[in-house]
Amino acid sequence: MPQESIVDASRPSAGRIYDYLLGGHHNFEVDRQAAERIKEMLPFMPKAVRLSRWCLQDLAVELAERRGYDVIIDYASGLPTNDHIHHVVPEGTTVIYSDYDPVVVEYAHEILAGVPNVYFFEANAGRPEELLERREVQEILGGRRKVALVYWAVGMFLTDEDLSHAAQYLYEWAAPGSCWAFNAQAAVPGTHDPAMLRAAKMYEQMGSPVQYRSLETYRQNIRPWLPDENGFVSFLEWHGVDLSIFSPSDLRVLGRTGGGYGAYLVR
Ligand SMILES: C[S@@+](CC[C@H](N)C(=O)[O-])C[C@H]1O[C@@H](n2cnc3c(N)ncnc32)[C@H](O)[C@@H]1O
Repeated sequence: MPQESIVDASRPSAGRIYDYLLGGHHNFEVDRQAAERIKEMLPFMPKAVRLSRWCLQDLAVELAERRGYDVIIDYASGLPTNDHIHHVVPEGTTVIYSDYDPVVVEYAHEILAGVPNVYFFEANAGRPEELLERREVQEILGGRRKVALVYWAVGMFLTDEDLSHAAQYLYEWAAPGSCWAFNAQAAVPGTHDPAMLRAAKMYEQMGSPVQYRSLETYRQNIRPWLPDENGFVSFLEWHGVDLSIFSPSDLRVLGRTGGGYGAYLVR
């Protein structure tokens, strides 16, 4: 860490907790303790976040290789570790990551030092203009607006108002032919599960309150975007994993989706 680092190792951060749950090393003791408490409440979490990360890798390959996007703009990226988007897309793809947590941003700059075509900025996913109106980002894009956008594992951290604003702004901003890979962390049977509520309380205390909502509410919030012909696909189908990776008690809380749905929203 730089001498004048803003990283505060005495407080847990959602991004570093996520890194620990993924098996990463960019975290402090305080994050590991918080993550262990989450695992006690929700033992399936490491498997659920791993599945979500596999789905993120799938969509990065789909966007860059099969759909031909050479610019991917990712919001609420968390730490750009070696299983993130820029590691799975073809060389030369421009990847613009962002996160609103200055701790994550500082760590990300260390991780990405010297990596070509990959950038990381501080920005709020609820206010996508914060990123897109930055001079540096406009220079990187050089006027390109037919791009791939990504919101993965972040919907739960955004209010209805933030999501609606983001959807409307991005629809106006993006050129026709753009695509938005969107993860609806939709409410599952366990939404009212005491452990889910305790986990929500913990995130709130860390300054990252979470919202549990239904797929239908997500659909309303992301208007006017609509999914392509595949519609919203459950995580289990998206990555093609077997439901048996989760125990029956995991599934009671997590639901039969594996933790949410993904869709390619089209402009
Ligand atoms: C669960 S991680 C998801 C990381 C990554 N998108 C993925 O799918 O692996 C959530 C990240 O979202 C960030 N975050 C939460 N709310 C945000 C917001 N309103 N704007 C930007 N980042 C946000 C947190 O700082 C954290 O790094």
